[in-house]
Amino acid sequence: MEKKQYTVTAALPYANGPLHLGHVAGVYLPADIFVRFLRHKKHDVAFICGSDEHGAAITLRAKKEGISPQEIVDKYHGILANAFKDFDIQFDIFHRTTAETHKTTAQDFFKQLDKNGAFTQQKTEQYYDEENNQFLADRYITGECPKCGYAEAYGDQCEKCGSALSPTDLINPRSTLSGNAPVLKETSHWFLPMERHEDWLRAWIKNGELNGVKQHDPKKWRNQVIGQCLSWIDGGLHPRAMTRDLDWGIPVPVEGADGKVLYVWLDAPIGYISATKDWAKSAGKDWKDYWTGDRKLIHFIGKDNIVFHAVIFPILLKEHGEFILPDNVPASEFLNLEGDKFSTSRNWAVWLHEYLERHPDKVDELKYTLTSIAPESKDSEFTWLDFQSRVNNELADVLGNFVNRALVLNNKYYEGVVPALGELAAEDQKVINALKEIPSKVEELLYNYKIREAQSEVMGLARIGNRYLAETEPWKVVKTDPKRVETILHIALQITANLAILFDPFIPATAKKMRSFLNMSEFDWSQTGSIELLPTGTMTNKPTILFQKIDEEFVESEKAILMASKAENKVEEEIEVVAAPQKEDVVFEDFLKMDIRVGKILSAKKIKKADKLLELLVDTGLDQRTIVSGIAEQFDVDEIIGKKVSVLMNLPPRKLRGVTSNGMILMAEDAKGNLNFIAPGEEMEVGAEIR
Ligand code: MF3
Ligand code: ZN
Repeated sequence: MEKKQYTVTAALPYANGPLHLGHVAGVYLPADIFVRFLRHKKHDVAFICGSDEHGAAITLRAKKEGISPQEIVDKYHGILANAFKDFDIQFDIFHRTTAETHKTTAQDFFKQLDKNGAFTQQKTEQYYDEENNQFLADRYITGECPKCGYAEAYGDQCEKCGSALSPTDLINPRSTLSGNAPVLKETSHWFLPMERHEDWLRAWIKNGELNGVKQHDPKKWRNQVIGQCLSWIDGGLHPRAMTRDLDWGIPVPVEGADGKVLYVWLDAPIGYISATKDWAKSAGKDWKDYWTGDRKLIHFIGKDNIVFHAVIFPILLKEHGEFILPDNVPASEFLNLEGDKFSTSRNWAVWLHEYLERHPDKVDELKYTLTSIAPESKDSEFTWLDFQSRVNNELADVLGNFVNRALVLNNKYYEGVVPALGELAAEDQKVINALKEIPSKVEELLYNYKIREAQSEVMGLARIGNRYLAETEPWKVVKTDPKRVETILHIALQITANLAILFDPFIPATAKKMRSFLNMSEFDWSQTGSIELLPTGTMTNKPTILFQKIDEEFVESEKAILMASKAENKVEEEIEVVAAPQKEDVVFEDFLKMDIRVGKILSAKKIKKADKLLELLVDTGLDQRTIVSGIAEQFDVDEIIGKKVSVLMNLPPRKLRGVTSNGMILMAEDAKGNLNFIAPGEEMEVGAEIR
């Protein structure tokens, strides 16, 4: 017997930045669709999420923004929670790991494991940054991934290939704080001896068995999840530190652990339990029901989280002893954007909250598109052109067109009242049969986490409806055989009613609108597939247009926003570029050889066919001389006339674009390429020497 009850979690996003469409398509949207579906199927479900507020991801962000970690998590928790709400992702709770309940839950969990002998305490040498007096773990240290060669792997994981790492695995490790090569220093930590767990893990992941008892169906697990876990286990597991020397996090609740906090990847998944506790309390439920007994625990995540949810957290849950292990860990691959990887640091992203600000009326358009391209089994790509074509060619032309036609014709011929079903023709029977098959196909796909295909199956029904009207042509037949049209519209409206239920998990606002057109105040998923959803005689309403088409301007403007944010970010990044290294020493006598004086620019003009050059006439106190200077792109002729500048006098004359230059104007130039004059004060006399 399949288990009927579910606890569904979606990876707790770090409260260190907003969400982009990659996160949404890979984790939150599929989880939300799955849960909405389960609720329609009358399963008891808790849907849990929250923000992940500890770890180096937070403290490094705080450092960058120049505010405290608490201010960072408060800021981004708010942004995340609002974006989820505006996008209508219906978690039962959106919790946070800085909540008090979480602190006690995580500490109790740790103490329980410690008591059970699940940890070993060890003195080890760990990387240390001497300049910042800090141990380096996780995101505080980066280097080359030993598995895939990615240059920016973190001390605990490679986000490129998903490997879990230890700082000492990194090739050429560097401190994130100083950029220096770290030194080794002794410290002591609590370790999880994962090698003790290899055998049961292998059997559990491969066969779904624990102690010889069937737990889950490994055929329902995605290949990449099983593959990544087995390759890690087969490579040999090792003790993994579960504590850190940091001042932001949950204090390790045992003696002799001053200044130590829990490793964020121990703390965060326990956050699912803490969140369940606070939700259950407010909903009048018992939280333990959601973590024990006859229930499926499902973790929706991105592929960089696989081993944490399918290996490490299961070890922790098992060692704790009271809780169920995950039944499935549907992990997504990555979504790309307009030909390139989503990248927070390069600002190559469409941010969910910004999209929703620009297009609050286009929630379902985005949901539909993201589900259509969800990276379930391989990487996929979002482009604005594809968004346009899905909205225009599928949502508007297929679904919108069909629903509109059925309702408008019914208004025209029958004043909106659902006509009776008459005798069935072969073409009617064909669509009725097709309709009957669809709900079970959709269900089968959804129960197997094939959400993208499930949606396309539902859209298939709209296509069937559209084709049915095109082929039966009720607008022509009405003139010769009005009785026949009653049957056609009866069937078309029943298809519409089915769509208004089957689309509900995917595009809930649209499905709701469709039900309002049909006056369906109540609906029951288990009735789908039939042509008895709308009783004959039901009064329908005048429809409105479900989807506005997306024009070229929309696409161009979205692309421009993307390009602009990337360019902007580039400037920001370059500001951070450090000054060029100091040059080799020169002897003082060499410096004295240079004759530098205060000069005044008397006139300036552009040099033909040389975009960068200006021809200047400069009063040096000794003479008036011509100097060619490469500043035409930064300065207008008018703004520099009369300016006092520093002139290197004794450079041999040089011909530039036909003009002889006698000396050089000294300029300051920063890493961004900004230029400015080395300008002595206006009170300095022309000819004054600079030394
Ligand atoms: N914050 C992590 C990330 O964004 C995910 C944490 S999931 C949980 O990669 F299991 F720790 F909750
Ligand atoms: Zn890697």
